Amino acid sequence: MKKLVTIVGARPQFIKAAALSREIRKNYSDTVKETLVHTGQHYDQVMSQVFFEEMEIPEPAYNLKIGSGNHGLQTGEMMKALEPVFIKEKPDAVIVYGDTNSTLAASVAASKLHIPVIHIEAGLRSFNKSMPEEINRIVTDHVSTLLFSPTVSGIKNLEREGLFPGNSTPYTVDQPGIFHCGDLMYDNSIYFRRKAEKKSTVLEKAGLQGKDFALATIHRPVNTDNRDRLREILEALLTVADKEQIHIVLPLHPRTSKMLEAHPDQELIGRLTADNGIHLVPPVAYLDMVHLEQHSRMILTDSGGVQKEAWFMKKPVVILRRETEWTEITDSGNGILTDADGEKIISAVKYFLSSPPKDFPDIYGNGQAASEIMDIVTQSEWK
Ligand code: UD1
Ligand code: UDP
Repeated sequence: MKKLVTIVGARPQFIKAAALSREIRKNYSDTVKETLVHTGQHYDQVMSQVFFEEMEIPEPAYNLKIGSGNHGLQTGEMMKALEPVFIKEKPDAVIVYGDTNSTLAASVAASKLHIPVIHIEAGLRSFNKSMPEEINRIVTDHVSTLLFSPTVSGIKNLEREGLFPGNSTPYTVDQPGIFHCGDLMYDNSIYFRRKAEKKSTVLEKAGLQGKDFALATIHRPVNTDNRDRLREILEALLTVADKEQIHIVLPLHPRTSKMLEAHPDQELIGRLTADNGIHLVPPVAYLDMVHLEQHSRMILTDSGGVQKEAWFMKKPVVILRRETEWTEITDSGNGILTDADGEKIISAVKYFLSSPPKDFPDIYGNGQAASEIMDIVTQSEWK
């Protein structure tokens, strides 16, 4: 029996963990015991509990309730709380997802105890170290023993940093196993799409049924914490809604809500909340998000996960960033990087309205990433 401790903390990690936990319960319950640890990085009902309920993720054995804070404090408190859990549980490996502070804290704490780390969503790079996530990813990849990358470019990035596929077993932190696999988020998109179609009432609730709308999300500190950039993006959304006669639904991340409340330009906030085609709503549950994505004309986002989901749903995506880790999307032309530049945002929306892309090849696997990953995890030796 292999004993795995899985660390989750932030919204996209609950979603990724849902797919792997589902696979472990279904096909590996005789050979793998998974213990879930929630760091408490995200804690609002709509940012955490709702995903556990809707996606049938088992109740975590530990909730460390670390909450929000500056990077050093948050990451440090997580490491302090995780260490005794790892010492008590003595897992064969710790699974971490993505690039949040929960990922960093767990991978550093585990590797210093010589517990092998399995990094899922390895190799992604923005080449922009002003993003906290870029630091988290690089450190995590370099202390991991099994690395699973969902993209070919991710594998190339790892190679550039001296982490080459082809090591032989038993894998170690110095001779790690590097694997290209499908994307767990795609597994979920497929698994929950029909359920969302049946169950979600988000379109009716938001008054969007039968209407043309675009879905937008904004939560990167570079966009939310800089008032001018936030204003520029929001003004562009208002212009698009007005000139292109398309509704825009914007589920607000708590970071963004807080920044809007504190924004000095309350006249702008007034226009956003007036009845002018912009629908500001609280963060939505996963099935509602899938339903919104499925029925939208296009997606505008600075989220990593939502960029990919746009692809899974065959929707064009306007990426409100200067660069992306998901370069396959921009290389194909189905995604356009606009940064927080109003003119670029408006022209990208116009372009995609008039020329919607049609070709979205299966570059994120076939919806069986969890099974691919668990096959490798259970058949590999590591120490
Ligand atoms: C974090 C991740 C980011 C990921 C995002 C997913 C880091 C450094 N960042 O960013 O990579 O894309 O999660 O959503 O790990 N807050 C609440 N309630 C909550 C959670 C947060 O009100 O349940 C507010 C707090 O004011 C907090 C702020 O949101 O200070 C930011 O939360 P935090 O977890 O630090 O970073 P995110 O922006 O969510
Ligand atoms: N998501 C959701 N409700 C929302 C916004 C996002 O369920 O209101 C889901 C989305 O479908 C995706 C994941 O959250 O699966 C992306 O998380 P987020 O954008 O917070 O983080 P990132 O992927 O940028 O790290």
